[in-house]
Amino acid sequence: MVLLTGSRKIKCAVFISGTGSNLESLIHFAKKKNSPISIELIISDNPKAKGLKFGKIFKIPNKVFNYKNKIIAEKKIISEIKNKNIKLICLAGFMKILSKDFIKSFKDKILNIHPSLLPKYKGLNTHHRAILNSEKYTGCTVHFVNYRLDSGKIILQKKVKISKYDTAKSLEKKVLIQEHKLYPKAIRKIFSL
Ligand code: GAR
Repeated sequence: MVLLTGSRKIKCAVFISGTGSNLESLIHFAKKKNSPISIELIISDNPKAKGLKFGKIFKIPNKVFNYKNKIIAEKKIISEIKNKNIKLICLAGFMKILSKDFIKSFKDKILNIHPSLLPKYKGLNTHHRAILNSEKYTGCTVHFVNYRLDSGKIILQKKVKISKYDTAKSLEKKVLIQEHKLYPKAIRKIFSL
């Protein structure tokens, strides 16, 4: 993994598609003096992503890329990231699948947060499926991104109990609270290895 040199923080880009609550929690984490990362760039495929407001609030540059042509979008993103000397990519609710070539360009430097206890419930609608299957627990996972969807090496997980009153919506809220704690913890973990 990337090594910390002296007191300099690792430059990080966060990719979002929607609300950006994980982005917000990562920004607060990055602002801590002893945090290993600084957030230098926010990237989105969605010009309407609510999370883009955090770029303005916290004065972090944000860029939206048009994914109608994924190959061109990714080429532009790669050049943007390399120009800014970014060494870590955090996917935080980014709903596009990265190409193999993109992942290869940033091998072992891309993290993702997923709302389930992987390897269970890869993909979408995780909370709905967990409830349908009468699971007693679900949770969230931070993992490295590899070529297979939601299948890279797991860094940390947090379990969340499902009550009989939970709906997909209530579970989403409960799990998100844990996600906001888990992502920073996972980042600390990879930099202390
Ligand atoms: C989070 O629950 C995250 O785990 C999930 O999208 C949500 C984004 O919320 N990610 C995925 O499902 C990726 N496959 P946020 O925009 O409020 O951070």
